[in-house]
Amino acid sequence: MKGIILAGGAGTRLYPLTMVTSKQLLPVYDKPMVFYPLSTLMLAGIKEILLISTPSDIVNFEKLLGDGSQFGVSIAYCVQPSPDGLAQAFLLGRDFIGDDACAMVLGDNIFYGNGFGRALKCAAANAEKNKRATVFGYYVNDPERFGVVSFNEEGHVVSIEEKPRNPKSHYAVTGLYFYPSGVSDRAKGVIPSARGELEITSLNEMYLQDELLDVQLLGRGYAWLDTGTMDSLTDASCFVQMIQNRQGIIISSPEEIAYNNGWISKEELVDAANRYGKSPYGVHLHAVAVGSVKY
Ligand code: DAU
Repeated sequence: MKGIILAGGAGTRLYPLTMVTSKQLLPVYDKPMVFYPLSTLMLAGIKEILLISTPSDIVNFEKLLGDGSQFGVSIAYCVQPSPDGLAQAFLLGRDFIGDDACAMVLGDNIFYGNGFGRALKCAAANAEKNKRATVFGYYVNDPERFGVVSFNEEGHVVSIEEKPRNPKSHYAVTGLYFYPSGVSDRAKGVIPSARGELEITSLNEMYLQDELLDVQLLGRGYAWLDTGTMDSLTDASCFVQMIQNRQGIIISSPEEIAYNNGWISKEELVDAANRYGKSPYGVHLHAVAVGSVKY
């Protein structure tokens, strides 16, 4: 199973914060935003990752994440020349994906909740073994801002629409998608929408029409955080700060996940911790390495 982090876009809604850097490199409390979607893929068990970003920002992602070996994964990079739509990731990533199943997470989507790792592994297995696609539905107040999924009582998807004026449900489709082998071929068939983008919702509709689309609901115990506006970015930071300080844990540390997955050794974890010096994040990784963080 392969994984893509889509971390492009102009980020104009966050100007001047994003005048000279990528939105997905901005801090969400104590770590760069991209650590969160990277952690999501790693929790799904995905070790081969492609990061897609803009021509000007890609170099900074490479500086931050390198080849991924410090996280026990491999990270390749690809430029999206202009933000032509989320489904374009599967065209740009065609060679990387090959014949494998592939997940994609948007670089600005943050997920947190008990049992999330299990839900992710289920979606990965559904793509690899059952050859079915999975999207995640999340109940929101303002569904018209998102892709919206409606489904019947058995959990089967009935409709999926991009930012509908009159949403058929309150379930937003989150920016996390799992597809079986062949997703790049399907993406080739996506026609640009009225706003000129290759919409991920059009790709999902293809799976729906072929009765190959499942929805997993993330219930009320989950946080799916938006980082698209000044306020939601600040709210996300406050959420992470509050949980981390209350519980003494770190949310979405790729190094910690790699260590718990058995992908890096204790020595490698200590090396990673040393790279971060005396920052709270580095101190936490040291504590994990000596076994004093247990939950
Ligand atoms: O966050 C979930 C939502 O993401 C879904 O509910 C929608 O169905 C999906 O279309 C998307 O909606 P957004 O309005 O959030 O899409 P946006 O154009 O803002 O792009 C999402 C992120 O992806 C953003 O950080 C920029 C990045 N991006 C976007 C485009 C269009 C790219 O890297 N490349 C692109 O071509």
